[in-house]
Amino acid sequence: MNFEQIRKNNEAWIAEKLALDPDYFANLSKGQTPDTLYIGCSDSRVTAEDLMGAKPGEVFIHRNVANMVISIDLNVMSVLNYAVRHLKVNNIVVCGHYACGGVKAAMQSQDLGLLNPWLRNIRDVYRLHKDELNCIVDLDKRYDRLVELNVQEQCVNLIKTAAVQQAYKERGLQVYGWVFDIHSGKLIDLRIDFPKILTDIMEIYKLD
Ligand code: CO
Repeated sequence: MNFEQIRKNNEAWIAEKLALDPDYFANLSKGQTPDTLYIGCSDSRVTAEDLMGAKPGEVFIHRNVANMVISIDLNVMSVLNYAVRHLKVNNIVVCGHYACGGVKAAMQSQDLGLLNPWLRNIRDVYRLHKDELNCIVDLDKRYDRLVELNVQEQCVNLIKTAAVQQAYKERGLQVYGWVFDIHSGKLIDLRIDFPKILTDIMEIYKLD
């Protein structure tokens, strides 16, 4: 894409929005009250708003390589705290996707330089679920399962934070784990048992 084309696309988009609603941008500029925080992969094929049919103002979005929630990553933690404590979202979604390059890289024995510490967190997910994963003989299926388990563990990482624990107690904030099936376009709900995980890990991770 070149900038000239992008500028033309932008003008067409503005005209389309204003034709439907002359106050569209005036209303957008008033502020945002999204109900959901979405944490997904940066992959160019997994466009968060498109696949959910979400309109501007509805979903607060954070994307990084392999949809990770890492406690010392100031970026994701700032997004999380802003969304939960200031925007008061009631739902948080971690959305992974099959054919995730980040997850694939973490399954290989290769030095990827600066990416090593980031991908190390996915290797830790593998180690935690090594017995289950190593029983899956088909490598493609094992890869798919690691994508799912990685989403599950990132949901657990969310639940380890004070912001999520407090918002759950105060207003019943919910955490969801999804996988986008890039082969069919379908969103799969992994049915993360949020209250059970919360109960299980509170002995060690309770912060409030
Ligand atoms: Co990915």
